[in-house]
Amino acid sequence: MQKKGLFITFEGTDGCGKTTQLNMAAEFLKSKGYEVVITREPGALETGKKIRQILLHSEEKLSDYCEMFLFLADRAQHVEALIKPAVEQGKIVLCDRHKDSHIAYQGYGREKNAQLIKELNQIAVNGIEPDLTLLYCVSPEVAMKRLSGAPDRIEAEGTKFQERVLEGYKKIAKENPERIKVINADNSVETVYNDTKNTIIELIEKKFEV
Ligand code: TYD
Repeated sequence: MQKKGLFITFEGTDGCGKTTQLNMAAEFLKSKGYEVVITREPGALETGKKIRQILLHSEEKLSDYCEMFLFLADRAQHVEALIKPAVEQGKIVLCDRHKDSHIAYQGYGREKNAQLIKELNQIAVNGIEPDLTLLYCVSPEVAMKRLSGAPDRIEAEGTKFQERVLEGYKKIAKENPERIKVINADNSVETVYNDTKNTIIELIEKKFEV
């Protein structure tokens, strides 16, 4: 009997293709009979949508610390109101970005104290830890081709910023080899999907079917 669900996060730099993979994984899991919740940060809930609007589209220049705390506020509300209850009800929560985005973007991208950001996130997530994080690593050239439309405030930071974020993600992955699975997102959508699916199946077998 499935008592508790799973919390899986999807991470990577802008244009890495993680959202496509998340949606494909959700369809696969639903076809196997699992109850799946798709969600994202920032902006999953009512409060978060307002925060997202400020974070990504504010015309006023935001200070780095204002940005940092707004992402944390969104996350704290998201965890309590949506993620924790869904996992407790035995659902599989697939979350497009979570705390590792914060460490990579606000820590390494903005060149702030990554250790402090990790600690602030531990407050915001209030005890919940992803069972698995899929980190999609893409080269800047491939990412550029995948991005379409007008860039938001963070995408507009440019290549150097994205490179720092990618390096940050790689460091976080090295520090958390059990939780974070790195996937080469330069490959075709099908190849990346196979890696995604196999990693999730492995986790489910470990968690529910042993
Ligand atoms: P979004 O449109 O959701 O983009 P994506 O499809 O790339 O996930 O935009 C979210 C942006 O916010 C993205 O550039 C990453 C950034 N971000 C942070 O800087 N810190 C965070 O904690 C989170 C969750 C996202």
